[in-house]
Amino acid sequence: MKLKKAVMLTLCMAIQLLCACGNEAGAASDKIHIGVIYYNQSDTFLNGLLESFRQELEALKKDDLEITMTVRDAAGSQRTQNDQVKELIDAGCSVLCVNLVDRADPSEIIDLARDNDVPIIFFNREPVAEDLMQWEKLYYVGAYAEQSGIMQGELAAEAVRSDSTIDRNKDGKIQYVVLEGEAGHQDAIIRTENAVDTLKSSGIELEKLSYQIANWNRAQAQNRMEQLISQFHDEIEMVLANNDDMALGAIDAYKKVNYTETTLPVFIGIDGTDVGLQAVMDSDMWGTVYNDKEGQAEAMAKLAVAVITGDGMNELDFEKERCIYLPYSKVTRENVEDYIKGGGEETAE
Ligand code: GAL
Ligand code: CA
Repeated sequence: MKLKKAVMLTLCMAIQLLCACGNEAGAASDKIHIGVIYYNQSDTFLNGLLESFRQELEALKKDDLEITMTVRDAAGSQRTQNDQVKELIDAGCSVLCVNLVDRADPSEIIDLARDNDVPIIFFNREPVAEDLMQWEKLYYVGAYAEQSGIMQGELAAEAVRSDSTIDRNKDGKIQYVVLEGEAGHQDAIIRTENAVDTLKSSGIELEKLSYQIANWNRAQAQNRMEQLISQFHDEIEMVLANNDDMALGAIDAYKKVNYTETTLPVFIGIDGTDVGLQAVMDSDMWGTVYNDKEGQAEAMAKLAVAVITGDGMNELDFEKERCIYLPYSKVTRENVEDYIKGGGEETAE
C-alpha cells in the first residue's frame, strides 16, 4: 500500500512538473523577440518600411504581450547575413524577418532556422518558390512586381497622351531610357518588362536608347544619367526608373548639366518614398507607383505575432499557402496629397 502511495505521489509530482513546463511555454509565447536583417541600410524604401514596421509592432504591444526587436544590416553581403542569422538565433530570437541579400541563395539561412525551429518571414526580396517550400515555417511578405510594372507603363502612356510636347522631336516615337535596380532582383526584371510592354500595347511607339543598372541607388543613377546625357544630348524624352531614388538621381543629373525646360524628359518612378512623393508634388516627377510599405509592415508585424502566439493567423490573407502580397497604386500630381497626408490610400483609415 505504502509503495503504491509513493508511486502515486511521484506520478503526481511528475505531472505537476510537466504542467509547470507547459505553463512556462505558454508564458514564453507572450514574449516575442524579433530579429530583423535587411540587405543594405542605404536603401531608402527599406528604411521607410522598417520605420513602419516599428510603429506596427508598437501598436500590437499589450500588457500581456512583450515585443522586442533587434535589427542588423547585412551591408550587401550574403555571407554576413548568414552569420547574422546565426547570431540572432543564438541571442534567443523567436522569429526572424529576413530581407535576403541574394534572393536565390537562402539555403544556409533556411537550414539554420529549421534546425533551431525559428520561423522566418522573408520580405521584399522574394525567394524562389521551391526554397519557400523547404519548410512549413517559411513565409513571404511583399508586393506584385508585375503590377508595379503595368502601373508604371499606364502612367507613362497617360503622360504621353496628355502632353504632346513629350515627343520633342515630333517623330511619333518616344525615345526612352530605363534605369534598372539590381540584376537578378524580381522587382527590376519584371518591372522593366511590364512597363515597356504596357506602353507598347497601349499603342505608344517607342525607341529604346539605353538600359542602365543603378542598383536602386540615387547617386549611381545620377552618374549613369550624366553619361547618358553626354551620349544622347537632348534626344531622351522619357526616363523609366525601377524606383523613385533612381528617378531622382536622373533628375539630379539634369539639374547638374544646365538643362532647360524644353530639353527635360518626363520621369516616372516606383515606390512613393517621402522624397519621391515630394518630387511628384513639385512636378519634377510625372508620377510614381505606390509600394505600400504600411500594408507590408502591418502584415509582417501581425504575422510575426501570429507565428508565435497562434493568434490572428486566420485574419491574414495568404496566397500560395504562406505568401502575402500587398497591392500597388498609381500616384500623380492629382492624388499625391492623399499619400503625403495619409501615408498611402490603403492604410489611411
Ligand atoms: C523594391 C523597391 C526598391 C528597393 C528594392 C530593394 O521593392 O522598390 O526601392 O527598395 O525593393 O530590394
Ligand atoms: Ca520622339
